[in-house]
Amino acid sequence: KTHDIAVIVGSIRKGSLNRQLAEALIALAPETLRLRIVEIGDLALFNPDLDETTPPAAWTRFRAEIAGADGVLFVTPEHNRSMPAAMKNALDIGSRPWGQNAWAGKPAAVVSGSPGALGGFGANHHLRQTLVVLDMPAMAQPEAYVGHLGQAFDAEGNLTSEATRAHLSAMMQAFALWVDRHTAA
Ligand code: FNR
Repeated sequence: KTHDIAVIVGSIRKGSLNRQLAEALIALAPETLRLRIVEIGDLALFNPDLDETTPPAAWTRFRAEIAGADGVLFVTPEHNRSMPAAMKNALDIGSRPWGQNAWAGKPAAVVSGSPGALGGFGANHHLRQTLVVLDMPAMAQPEAYVGHLGQAFDAEGNLTSEATRAHLSAMMQAFALWVDRHTAA
């Protein structure tokens, strides 16, 4: 069975290392997953007032893209030991209006990446905390904290470390099974 997976990248800058990481993950994924990056850079800061009248078109587009996905892969940088504001903003927008949580029930995986040594552990786990209230079953193992991202890619964007490639490939295999298990037949 194939599944549509929304990939959310927590960095909105052009040269994002985490976006490169997301593209590498997409390339490594098994064929049963159809992954697509869903953009968050055009989402105005969440303000419930805007849902009282006409919500911004970008919010409506984003909510529909999440609602249409079978699962979600989060690829996040770390800003000050947490997820970037752009990522949290996207999570909040998808969760409202109240009673219309677009994330609900969708199986998720979290990968964090950083040019530093710790691989964005703080961001990864803060994001997981929010997934609990969003009602998203988040895959526990294998975990993926990808450090030293500045040296991780060759000129074509391929991961240079065979060990990292093997780890992330195994993670995507596990995610495919996770999605299968949490998706209605
Ligand atoms: C950072 N960076 C960072 N890195 C990290 O490992 N832990 C952290 O807490 C932080 N904090 C932080 C705060 C702010 C405001 C910025 C701008 C950056 C560095 C960060 O990992 C680096 O800029 C990455 O390149 C960001 O990911 P993208 O944009 O390349 O995907």
